Amino acid sequence: METGLRNRVAIIAASSKGIGRATALALASEGTHLALCARNANALDQVAEEARHLHGVEVYTETFDVAEDDRVRQFADAVHGRFGNIDICVTNAGGPPAKSFAETTMAEWDRAYQLNLRSIVSFAQAVLPYMQQRRWGRLITITSIAVKQPVPELILSNSVRTGVLGLVRSLATQYGPDNITINNVGPGYTATDRVKELAQTNAQTSGRSASEYESEVAKDIPLGRLAKPEEVADVIVWLASERASYITGQTILVDGGLYRGL
Ligand SMILES: NC(=O)c1ccc[n+]([C@@H]2O[C@H](COP(=O)([O-])OP(=O)(O)OC[C@H]3O[C@@H](n4cnc5c(N)ncnc54)[C@H](OP(=O)(O)O)[C@@H]3O)[C@@H](O)[C@H]2O)c1
Repeated sequence: METGLRNRVAIIAASSKGIGRATALALASEGTHLALCARNANALDQVAEEARHLHGVEVYTETFDVAEDDRVRQFADAVHGRFGNIDICVTNAGGPPAKSFAETTMAEWDRAYQLNLRSIVSFAQAVLPYMQQRRWGRLITITSIAVKQPVPELILSNSVRTGVLGLVRSLATQYGPDNITINNVGPGYTATDRVKELAQTNAQTSGRSASEYESEVAKDIPLGRLAKPEEVADVIVWLASERASYITGQTILVDGGLYRGL
């Protein structure tokens, strides 16, 4: 299937590991030039090298925290300066800690808002005017199955991320006339460091080992296993491609059937 992604330019936020990394490499394999960020340089540089070496694309990287909106704007401007356009923007960030409601602090609520809702606003503000100029664009947010079905012990994620759905649906309406599609991808349990982190937190409270936690989680998933990050990335690539030109304002879960709603 021709994706039309060759020589497009994509920002992929929080892309040195996990789902962000898999998305960067999947887009690179389609010939898309990349602009990547994360807080730490080592893993980020490795992804950039892999994309250049394996797929011959250009890669621009910067290290910063996506909660810093001035850095997000500077990054987008630098990407535009370097490549001349920004076609695709995939927003992403680390997830908030797993805690019961009673354990959460106001500082953690503020941080979850900054990371998992406000950072998306920053990226949208920074990239949409560039996409409007060219009357083509794809904004894709990575959230979680939590936007449809609350996940136990993830009260911060369950609460803050639902705001992304309102943002995505509203922006899709506003920017549709500019030929910009705006969609959200909600991963279910995906085999990355994030799940290892959740397994460790769970082990401290329940006494179950990390592998027992993962087996327990997998029992509830109709496909009987966690996702590979590449399986989430493939859906993001499709949404970014010409093949998804009439899809906007949607949330697509990549959860192996875990969400039971209609
Ligand atoms: N894995 C799952 O099962 C799952 C399920 C549902 C939702 N999600 C959500 O999907 C997102 C990605 O998850 P993942 O599993 O791919 O996580 P991951 O493997 O832990 O990778 C997180 C990536 O984000 C970067 N990052 C984290 N915080 C950042 C920040 N403040 N600013 C810039 N970069 C940042 C990390 O690099 P640095 O540390 O160097 O910054 C790393 O590259 C998270 O929001 C997660 O909660 C994951």
